[in-house]
Amino acid sequence: MKKMISGIKPTGKLHLGNYIGAIQQFIKFQDEYSMMIFIANLHAITIKIDKKELKESTKQLIGLYLASGLDPEKVTLFLQSDVPAHTQLGWIMTCNSHIGELNRMTQYKDKVAKKEENITGGLFTYPSLMAADILLYDADYVPVGIDQKQHVELTRDLAERFNNQYGETFVVPQPISPKVGAKIMSLSEPTKKMSKSYKDSKGTIDLLDEPNAAYKKVMSAVTDSVGIVRFDIENQPGIANLLTILSTLKGESIENIVKRYDGKGYAEFKKEVAEVVKQFLITLQAKYFSIMESGKVETVLEQGKTIANQIAYKKIAKVYKKIGFTI
Ligand code: AMP
Ligand code: TRP
Repeated sequence: MKKMISGIKPTGKLHLGNYIGAIQQFIKFQDEYSMMIFIANLHAITIKIDKKELKESTKQLIGLYLASGLDPEKVTLFLQSDVPAHTQLGWIMTCNSHIGELNRMTQYKDKVAKKEENITGGLFTYPSLMAADILLYDADYVPVGIDQKQHVELTRDLAERFNNQYGETFVVPQPISPKVGAKIMSLSEPTKKMSKSYKDSKGTIDLLDEPNAAYKKVMSAVTDSVGIVRFDIENQPGIANLLTILSTLKGESIENIVKRYDGKGYAEFKKEVAEVVKQFLITLQAKYFSIMESGKVETVLEQGKTIANQIAYKKIAKVYKKIGFTI
């Protein structure tokens, strides 16, 4: 069975973009691959984060993964900080990365361009830690949204560089993104990505939003004056985004939806999207609240910690030998 790994940072609230671009893929893949999913809490502290907020979003994240249908019998779910080998290999990968490479990473570059204050060293070297996260588990595939592809490309380069210097050690992984839904846009500004950090509550549907409020957000989503329901990202980004959301949540092809709305207006179309989003949230949240009360989160993490450590420990021991740390 081919191996797959991915992680999500426990910062901010999970939104529909995270669900469609990341979680929904994980659910799809859990039957086909040997999967590891972790909460990237070491990555969360690259920016300032309050202790209470970190704890809460970590728990919430696991609860939402489980509520979305991630099955702990099939997937190893764990906290990154529960496995010391991530930090150990992270340092080795930092030393294996060139400053020029890290300088080119867009997430960091964007923050520098915006002249944000107090950018941490961790934010600069975080792609090296991400490489370690992946390489520890010999992952063949890494499902991520488009924005993270660059980091997986770097991981490939670092794996090859290490293998060339020390001999075959790491599997060179491949990023995979969904064909539909890799970039869900803001409902209020459909040329901008729906995002945790983007302060745009009207444009973002949080997975724990009150379902009726979410319905209203979809109904007031920005569209255009063309008046035809069709998939044209360039000229009708709002409609294209709603089509993507409907298609992925309903499991119906965009082509089919477009056909169904031939000759009909936006109002009817929006109503369907709003209703599907609302029902999706109602179902998800009911599962979420029952999981949060059950104590399942703690049990699943304990189980994940043991399995992840077994694999990662073996790998880091091998790496230490290759490098010459073991005398
Ligand atoms: P982040 O919210 O940046 O921590 O991202 C967590 C995961 O969700 C990553 O795999 C992202 O690529 C994915 N993701 C984040 N925002 C979106 C979006 N608007 N559309 C699709 N995928 C997204
Ligand atoms: N950097 C990713 C994000 O911001 C999270 C992440 C950390 C990750 N390590 C990873 C994703 C390893 C995939 C594989 O979303």
